[in-house]
Amino acid sequence: MSTPRTFPDGFVWGSATASYQIEGGATEGGRGPSIWDTFSHTPGKTLNGDTGDVADDHYHRWQEDVEHIKNLGLGAYRFSIAWPRVQPGGSGEFNPEGIAFYSGLVDALIEAGVKPVVTLYHWDLPQELEDQGGWANRETAYAFARYARRMAEELGARIDTWTTLNEPWCSALLGYASGVHAPGLTDQVTALRAIHHLNLAHGLAVREIRDVLGEQAKTSLTLNLHVIRPDDPSSDADVEAVREADEIANGAFLGPVLDGAYPAGLIERTSGLTDWSFVEDGDLEITNQPLDVLGVNYYSTARVRRYAGSGERQQADGHKDSEGSPWIGADDIEFLQQPGPYTAMGWNIEPQGLTDLLLSLHESYPDQPLMITENGAAFDDEVSADGRVHDDLRVAYLHDHVEALGQALDKGVDVRGYFAWSLLDNFEWAYGYDRRFGIIRVDYDTQLRTWKDSAHWYRKLATTNSVPAVTDIEA
Ligand code: FCB
Repeated sequence: MSTPRTFPDGFVWGSATASYQIEGGATEGGRGPSIWDTFSHTPGKTLNGDTGDVADDHYHRWQEDVEHIKNLGLGAYRFSIAWPRVQPGGSGEFNPEGIAFYSGLVDALIEAGVKPVVTLYHWDLPQELEDQGGWANRETAYAFARYARRMAEELGARIDTWTTLNEPWCSALLGYASGVHAPGLTDQVTALRAIHHLNLAHGLAVREIRDVLGEQAKTSLTLNLHVIRPDDPSSDADVEAVREADEIANGAFLGPVLDGAYPAGLIERTSGLTDWSFVEDGDLEITNQPLDVLGVNYYSTARVRRYAGSGERQQADGHKDSEGSPWIGADDIEFLQQPGPYTAMGWNIEPQGLTDLLLSLHESYPDQPLMITENGAAFDDEVSADGRVHDDLRVAYLHDHVEALGQALDKGVDVRGYFAWSLLDNFEWAYGYDRRFGIIRVDYDTQLRTWKDSAHWYRKLATTNSVPAVTDIEA
């Protein structure tokens, strides 16, 4: 038997969640409505009309959830603050009850020996801000900076890492271009404005956090970086198609944040839509703040080719042009079906994509520390007669991706930690409660939490810092 892979000392094993996906308590404790409350309550927007009104009832059961985190032996827990819980309208008055909720959670985590990793924005924008234009409105970026400052003042040095935004690609492109996420708009110019104001919000918030907490504050941004491969690597047209897709998928965020510039090709190809005058003088210095750690969310890969212009266009990424394309500036490309296996989301399972992504990031930004802030899989779990959830497929998914991450470490990539998505089954956005990503099962009728086999396996990984065999699951 080969020796199991061991990770470096101090490597952080954690798990992640997001406020709207787990909290519930939507109208309690002075919380204001967010765009996801509005969206999920709009008929036809989510599967089965599911909403986050109750979700995992974490708002009332957070102490039990912290116990699970502790018992899993995790070094860190990544959660998000619901902006409308701490500042119901997104500007103006803060809500002491909301702040107290997160303060209590943070204390309990520290007491349990778990580092709090906070995301300030995981998609639940206060509805009042959306009514004033949401992320398409520059004012939202300033409002976000004020909110970030207040959180830094309130939670202070208790927070291990401050992540400003989760996956701004989704906020801007799924929220304002394809419309499958809140607020559900389908306008490409609005989406481009949103991209910039999210990047600006990130930079402004980093400055505020550092201003309050000094240079010892660790700041980060989490991106869902897309791994996009050419169908035919020897075809110039396909390679060019990859570049176009990559610029709106990755470059629109990595560029302003890490290089201080938007991709020239993206600006050029969208010049018929906008002159980009929403990027004001000095903005790109603000977006380009040094980051202590770049958060990477990874699930699967994509394959594209240049669309020949006739015949049915393949769109295996799931978007429909008739409903609005998120691939702004990349109009003539096709997304091809990737080979399986697939998760219950229909996403292809390709651990090698994670290694490739980390190596390419390391090549472009050799001094940038990285952290896997999300990785995991939805499967159709079943409770067995023995009362357990033998989620072998999820165990294998986690195992293989952790191995893939290890291979990147072997090649010198500086990755500081890994967070499994997700701690609990939860509200999977437009898919509602139908898709289960948790390593802990949630029975939505009783709110009972049950460790799946993947939780047992992950506990062993977190507590030994070496990768258990897939069969190594406590009886
Ligand atoms: C990511 C989101 C997270 C979760 C996973 C499956 O895009 O950040 O909230 O929905 O996908």
